[in-house]
Amino acid sequence: MKAVVWHGIGDIRLDDVPEPTLRDPHDAIVRITRSAICGTDLHMVRGTMSGMREGTVLGHEAVGVVTEVGDAVRGFSPGDRVLVNSTISCGACRYCRMGHTAQCDVANPNGPQAGTSFFGGPEMTGPVDGLQAEYARIPWAQNTLHPLPDTVSDEQAILLSDIFPTGWFGAELAGVRRGDVVAVFGAGIVGQFAAASAFKQGAARVIVVDGEETRLAAALAQHCEIVDFNAEDPVEAIRELTNGIGADAVIDAVGVDAERPKRGPAAPPQEQAEAFDAEVRQIAPDAAPRGEHFKPGDGPSQAARWAVEAVAKCGRIGIIGVYPPQVGQYPIGQAMNKNLTIRMGNCDHHSVTPPLIDMVAAGQFDPTALITEHEQLGSAIGAYEAFDLREPGWIKVELAATQG
Ligand SMILES: NC(=O)c1ccc[n+]([C@@H]2O[C@H](COP(=O)([O-])OP(=O)(O)OC[C@H]3O[C@@H](n4cnc5c(N)ncnc54)[C@H](O)[C@@H]3O)[C@@H](O)[C@H]2O)c1
Ligand SMILES: [Zn+2]
Ligand SMILES: [Zn+2]
Repeated sequence: MKAVVWHGIGDIRLDDVPEPTLRDPHDAIVRITRSAICGTDLHMVRGTMSGMREGTVLGHEAVGVVTEVGDAVRGFSPGDRVLVNSTISCGACRYCRMGHTAQCDVANPNGPQAGTSFFGGPEMTGPVDGLQAEYARIPWAQNTLHPLPDTVSDEQAILLSDIFPTGWFGAELAGVRRGDVVAVFGAGIVGQFAAASAFKQGAARVIVVDGEETRLAAALAQHCEIVDFNAEDPVEAIRELTNGIGADAVIDAVGVDAERPKRGPAAPPQEQAEAFDAEVRQIAPDAAPRGEHFKPGDGPSQAARWAVEAVAKCGRIGIIGVYPPQVGQYPIGQAMNKNLTIRMGNCDHHSVTPPLIDMVAAGQFDPTALITEHEQLGSAIGAYEAFDLREPGWIKVELAATQG
């Protein structure tokens, strides 16, 4: 079958690989009808999320149809249309039962302290072959799959695999309350859904910061107040928009591949620029960009720093942008002296998603407008390259199963 395979930093290929088979009674096999490319995949191709094993199939967002189930999978049968959660969870351990399914004690083959297990990730997350493929093996299928009602199309469902639940989870981590002014850093697809979720959870105003025009335009279309960090200092702008107080809650939807401003009043002075350069060398020592492609972000801690500065005293920050374990820079002293509450993590997909499926099924929210690129699995590599460069208008790429 065809699959997108990680060969090295900056080196991904569409390969022919063997079809997966059941390995454990809790496994299922799913024929993937639709997958997608995520900002998280870019971290692994850019080298800012390290420890990938050569030969791992990439991708952790998919919709499909069950073709086979192991003996211990009692609630799904071949033919069921399913949503695949990005993160894998057993549904029986202490963490799963508390709803913290991204911290499942059982799903990660590297043990309970190894952290979240997800599809198509580094060695320490499994590794479990991913979903940008024609078929996939789904470990702990009973908990890692959700049934899909006929009223939710594949196109609506694909953003329920990771993005909508992650945005929702981000707004929850930031403790969004009725009347809040919320600032979202990052207007990629995760930031867009964090903004939409903040409104749905009661935010009165949502300010979105990014440096890419078409992504800011998409945030404006949701009636967010937009700030271009290449034109304005985002911290100053947020203070100005909030009577000098700052945002009540901030969501970091950027992560380790954050960029520094290239121009404008927020462009870093030389000392800060050198500090960013040192961060990049430490976090991504093996980065191997091919020309303009797959370059790590040049300001790894930029979004984290702005979040701490832009939030009000005693404010709340929710971090959903991914920072891998080797990242150690955080403005802890500034945060401590503002009495901040900071929560973060990988989305607990299994427990967050069910009400969001209902919301989409009921027509209360249509996630399809922000899927800007409709590609096929066969053209995934070119799509990765364009998405990596943040080509204007490329906010989210879905990959339909290649026909024929
Ligand atoms: N916690 C989770 O469970 C989870 C799930 C999915 C994705 N993620 C993470 O969410 C993040 C966003 O994902 P995405 O798919 O939207 O990625 P993306 O790369 O499409 O979007 C990131 C956006 O951040 C912007 N940006 C860069 N530097 C910035 C800065 N200093 N300030 C403000 N904006 C800046 C970019 O221009 C881009 O629009 C990634 O780190 C991804 O790994 C986390
Ligand atoms: Zn994702
Ligand atoms: Zn578990």
